[in-house]
Amino acid sequence: MRLIEDVAELRAVLGAERRQGRTIGFAPTMGALHEGHVSLVRAARAANDVVVVSIFVNPLQFGPAEDFDRYPRQLQADLALLEPAGVDVVFHPRPDRFTPSGRLTSVAVEGLTGVLEGATRPGHFDGVTTIVTKLFNAVQPDRAYFGEKDFQQLAVITRMVADLDQPVEIVGCPIVREADGLAMSSRNAYLTPEQRRDALALSAALRAVAASWGGNADYARDELRTTLSGAPNVRLDYAEVVDPETLEPLEGVVQGPVQALVAAWLGDTRLIDNIRLEPPQRA
Ligand code: PAJ
Repeated sequence: MRLIEDVAELRAVLGAERRQGRTIGFAPTMGALHEGHVSLVRAARAANDVVVVSIFVNPLQFGPAEDFDRYPRQLQADLALLEPAGVDVVFHPRPDRFTPSGRLTSVAVEGLTGVLEGATRPGHFDGVTTIVTKLFNAVQPDRAYFGEKDFQQLAVITRMVADLDQPVEIVGCPIVREADGLAMSSRNAYLTPEQRRDALALSAALRAVAASWGGNADYARDELRTTLSGAPNVRLDYAEVVDPETLEPLEGVVQGPVQALVAAWLGDTRLIDNIRLEPPQRA
């Protein structure tokens, strides 16, 4: 496994692989890696000749009052997790080189980004799409792997790639959860033991709404909001039931695929989670 900091060196190494006809699978991350990230690596390993992971805490996607400074940085532990998973190249660019001040260009997806995460975190997705485009240009992967944990991010990136004809196939991967249901997240490390326990309300509420799903979006949304508003030490940001492609809120009786998404604060820590509501079985 090679650790590379420099874009030119990365291009040289991966260019040689590409000229030999080898395919490249890529999983972008911000580090503080866990089994959720490793699942992306496994999916990439299974379908590509060369596997690249980037580790970069992207300053462009954090708001001024957000956790950029305290975001966990643990390169050695991350490398120890990636090596046995069969990663070939870890790209770990230096912030002063990869995101120097004075940038005049950004990539913005106009729709999809004003709602849900985008409503609470203005500018967040512009930071994501700009850095992911830069990473795609550096790595030039055949396939790139993203978790459904960040459901809206996956939708936004899929749309960006389609709209701009970026030559990469986007592959979505299922959410990896702790044994008790909590969606794995680098931010779970911020939680106190009490908050960790109370955070279970998110996945439990989503599971309950999926189990009772009868095809009415209003009922499902109300059920989620009522459950989470009453959950101890959980401050609900949003609970929505949307079309998984357009992310538009659904109302009343719906046909077709449906996604339920929640975001909530446990103290100073903001967590997100989501679930697919499968079409109700007809009797
Ligand atoms: P990060 O939060 O490190 O997540 C990297 C990738 O891992 C994302 O695609 C995310 O959806 C996926 N992931 C995280 N937790 C997961 C889980 N429990 N199960 C499955 N997949 C999971 O998302 C980012 O970084 C950044 O926005 C990035 C795309 C790297 C751009 O900076």
